[in-house]
Amino acid sequence: MEDAAIEVLRSKKWVKGEQGRMFGAEFASWCGAEAAVPCQSGSAALWAALRLLDIGPGDEVIVPGLTFIATATAVSLVGATPVFADVEPDYWCICPVDVKSKISDKTKAVIGVHLFGQPFSQKLRKLCDENNIALIEDAAQAHGATMDGKKIGSIGDIACFSFFPSKNMAVGGEGGMITTTRKDLAERMNRLINHGRDDTLESIELGTNLRMSEVQAAIGRKQLEKIDEWTQIRNNNSEFIQHNTTVRKGCTHAWHQLCILSDQPNELISSFDRQGIDARVHYPIPCNRQQVYSEYSNVELKVCESIAHRLVAIPVHPSLTTGELEKINKVLHL
Ligand SMILES: Cc1ncc(COP(=O)(O)O)c(C=O)c1O
Repeated sequence: MEDAAIEVLRSKKWVKGEQGRMFGAEFASWCGAEAAVPCQSGSAALWAALRLLDIGPGDEVIVPGLTFIATATAVSLVGATPVFADVEPDYWCICPVDVKSKISDKTKAVIGVHLFGQPFSQKLRKLCDENNIALIEDAAQAHGATMDGKKIGSIGDIACFSFFPSKNMAVGGEGGMITTTRKDLAERMNRLINHGRDDTLESIELGTNLRMSEVQAAIGRKQLEKIDEWTQIRNNNSEFIQHNTTVRKGCTHAWHQLCILSDQPNELISSFDRQGIDARVHYPIPCNRQQVYSEYSNVELKVCESIAHRLVAIPVHPSLTTGELEKINKVLHL
């Protein structure tokens, strides 16, 4: 990564170059998407995805109540209305039954989040197709996970990845990737993150500068060479750890987070803390209960509210040592 970054720095080709183009092409081929384009963050990818689908004021987009806030705020930022759906009690991803009950004639898309690296339900694709609405994958936490043999990033109309440093794959700074399975969106995707400009440099639609810089792209390409190996180690670690979080049938997990649903989350976190192991609740406040969405105070999402403050994320990352893994099991079985 260091060599790749230094080479780009010395080349003085810092933006709009070969590294970004190659990173997009390699990422698309890795996850089986029609096309992919690197951008500045997972949040930027979500904003671009909604714009690509021409979603704006008057439109509704269904999102899970339990996710990182960016899933919902991207919808608000394009002027559309997020409609919060509950999550499944067993896998904690957006619940297709609740999504179905919330589809209206204003619904333009569903953003399914592969929460903690667990792929969302296969039923979501069918539901969106039957109702003629788009499916966006929030894949910020799910690099390398699979659904029915297909890599995450090739399931929805569009998928959005994050390379924030805590994610399974990073770029040495902020970064994201937009992928699409639709030929008709591939060209516009590049345009939208570049001021809506075409090859003649005329702006033909509203866009802005969301491009990834070349140093980040060069680092990302190096990480892409490693991601499958790291995902395998995350899976091995999750097998070693004696937890009872289940993986959805037909899917493989990316184990971005290993979360334990606990009735005594504070006690569990303290026990980990005493062993020097970092554990924390993800995400303690459902999106519809955060101040930014105070107008949703009457929306009740039973499962979200009963589990949000009880999901304790414990380490599962590839650099864990056997000693640390053994310590984790010791705490879990105190
Ligand atoms: C589920 C989810 N969606 C979106 C994002 C936003 O990504 P970024 O931080 O790169 O903007 C993140 C990560 O932070 C995330 O975890």
